[in-house]
Order: sequence, then structure tokens, then C-alpha cells
Amino acid sequence: MRASIILVSLAIVISIKILILPPITDLLELEKCPACYGTSMCPAFATEHIIRDTSSIDAIIFNMLGAKNIMLGLYLNKKVILKKLGHNSELDLLDKNICLMTDLVPGCNVSNAISQHDNLLSELRQLVTKSFTSSLRCPSSVHLENLLNFHENSKNDSKVFQANLWTVVSVNPEPLIMQVLRQEDGWPVAKYLGACGRIIVEEYVGQMLYTYYAAPWIQRASFAHQLLVAAYNFTYSHLNFSFYLTDISPDNIAVDANGRIKFVDLENVVVVDKNIPEEDKPPIWDTPHVSEIFDCEGNGCFAFSSDDICEHRLSDHNIYAVCMTLLHPETAPETLPGGLLHNTPPEHAHVMQLIEECAYSENRFLAANKLMIALAHLTQQHEELQYY
Ligand SMILES: Nc1ncnc2c1ncn2[C@@H]1O[C@H](COP(=O)(O)OP(=O)(O)OP(=O)(O)O)[C@@H](O)[C@H]1O
Ligand SMILES: [Mg+2]
Repeated sequence: MRASIILVSLAIVISIKILILPPITDLLELEKCPACYGTSMCPAFATEHIIRDTSSIDAIIFNMLGAKNIMLGLYLNKKVILKKLGHNSELDLLDKNICLMTDLVPGCNVSNAISQHDNLLSELRQLVTKSFTSSLRCPSSVHLENLLNFHENSKNDSKVFQANLWTVVSVNPEPLIMQVLRQEDGWPVAKYLGACGRIIVEEYVGQMLYTYYAAPWIQRASFAHQLLVAAYNFTYSHLNFSFYLTDISPDNIAVDANGRIKFVDLENVVVVDKNIPEEDKPPIWDTPHVSEIFDCEGNGCFAFSSDDICEHRLSDHNIYAVCMTLLHPETAPETLPGGLLHNTPPEHAHVMQLIEECAYSENRFLAANKLMIALAHLTQQHEELQYY
């Protein structure tokens, strides 16, 4: 009797919460465009083809807790993720900065203010190549267009396009990275579907990697193999750039319905232009960058400097991040105690030995290569080897 009263009260509270959640269209902030991310998805919002997901308790709870400005939605009944790309305080700060760029403060209208700005493309170059606060670091200006022209399929350099691009890069470059490293081209990232105002829509991939903590060892070995292949590909496989992910953690990687891992948080990426002109090359350009191990309370500790990575044509950062923060037994004690491959069967002990080498030896590429071969052999995923 008591339990049913509690359940009914809970159901009432949840229903009221859902009712008082603002309609999703109120969150688009379309009035701020072109200081927004784009408009390709607006027809889908206008026709209510995109709605909040209230189809399961999990989705309702996720949406109610939406402190991170990330929501679960349904797009024609398929699960999608809706992201505002920043916390409210970050977006408020952006609006203030836009108003400060013109003389329209106070009583500033963000849309008018950004439209008055003539030099957004050069501002954008500065933001990417000079700013220490930008989470997109160090592509040389020579190939910057290769990186930027993808946004929202726009090939023109209209003022609206420039304003959209400037806004995305200022807030969070994730949509740009997802459009350069397209999932359709085989990159292990969530698929970008489009934007409307201050919301982007991306594919819902699945549960996060840490929820597979107790999965069978061989399945976790397959994830480990895919993670290393991804680390190699982000480093080597793009024609112009290397992409170093500086926030690799088990709650930024999801597993799709086919057991494929995908990176879902691409906010912090160091982008290195591999083919910069001779005169721009720093003196240590051709010496590969080796990630340093710092001692934190007796354990190896993950640390990096974006500026260091930018000085070299090649860095072992991605490999290091995977081995150190996901695979090594002593790291990620909160989310993956013992590492992703904890409880390794004794007959596969050599795998743990290779992880140790990959995390701690200076010749990380060699160790990672051996580890990938061992894991590929074990999990029979030889098709991934074609990438390196
Ligand atoms: N494409 C996606 N598919 C499935 N889940 C996702 C996706 N994108 C985000 N999520 C979920 O939302 C959470 C937060 O997303 P994301 O990491 O992009 O935001 P964040 O604010 O940058 O978080 P943090 O800064 O704490 O890493 C993820 O940990 C994951 O649970
Ligand atoms: Mg995250």
C-alpha cells in the first residue's frame, strides 16, 4: 500500500516536471541568429518531427537533470541527442562579448550586433590560431579553410555563414569536427545531423563505455582494439590534419548497437596541420612529441600541453591517452577500476604487459602496435588493421 502511494506520487511529480519543461522550440533562441549554429534542422523542429524524448523513464530522468544543456530527443521516432554546446553561463558570456564587439551595449540585440560586424572571418582566424582559450587549437592558417568550409554544408562565405561559424568555434567546435571527421566516412564519432538556432542535433549512439565495465572480457578487448585503432586514425589518417583528443574518458565514448565505439564529446581537440609551410615550422617540428608522465599520488598521471603538441608534426598523445586513461589498471579508479581490461584471463597476460609498455615506455608507438596486433588476433577484427 505504502509502496504504491510512493509510486503514484513519483509518477505525479514526474508528470508535473514534464509539463513544466519549456517546449523544445523555446530553447532554440532563433532570435539570436545569425549568432547561432545554423538553421538546417529548423524545418524538423517547426513540424515537430523533433521532440523531447519522454518514451522511457531513463530518457525522462536524463532530460529532467539536463544541467549540462544536453537532452534526449526523438527525430521521426529515432533517438537523437540535442546539445546547446555550452552551459547557460557560457552562452550568456558569448552574448555579452558579441555586444561588446559593437557599440550597441546597453540594450543590445545580439542578432543586430553580430550582423554589424564586418570582420568575422579574420576574427575567426585569430580565435583559432592565436587564442589560448579556444578549445580548437593550432591549425595553421594555410589550411584553415579545409577545416571550416564544412559547416552546415555551406561552401559560400556569406555573412550569415561566417557568423554561424564564428559562433560555433567560439562556443564549442564539436559540430565542426563531426563534419570534418564524418561518421559516413568511417570515423568513429557520433553523426552530426544539423543545427537550428542554438541547438545541434546528433545521432544518439548508445550507452557509455563505462557501462560495459562488467561485459565479457573478449568484448572489452574488442573495445580496447577499436580505441587504439581510433587513436591511430585520429593521428594519421586525415590528409591535412592530426586530431588529438584531449578529453578521452569513459564518459565521452559510447558503444553503438553493433558494438562499435564512437567518440561523442569532441569539444577539446588539438588540431595540428601536418603540412605547414617550411618557414612556419618550429625547430623541433620533425621530432615526434612524447607525452610526459607526471607522478600523481604514486600513480602515473595524465597531463598534456596543447602548445607542446602543436610544435610537432607527430605526437603520441592519442595512443598515450587510450593506454593511460582507459586501459592501464591503475588509472580511472572511479569509472573503470582496474582498467577496461580488468580480470584478464591468465592466458592473455601478455596483453596487460603490452598495456604497461604502452603507458610507460617511451617507444609508445611500437608497444601500441604490438598491443593492437595481439588484440586484433584475439578478437579477430583484422579488418581494422587496414588503417595503419
Ligand atoms: N551522441 C551521443 N550519444 C549518446 N550519448 C551522448 C551523446 N552525446 C552526449 N551523450 C551523453 O551526454 C553526456 C554529456 O555529453 P558531452 O560529453 O558531450 O557533454 P559535456 O558537457 O562536454 O560533458 P563533460 O564536459 O562532463 O565531458 C555524455 O557523457 C553522454 O552520457
Ligand atoms: Mg563529456
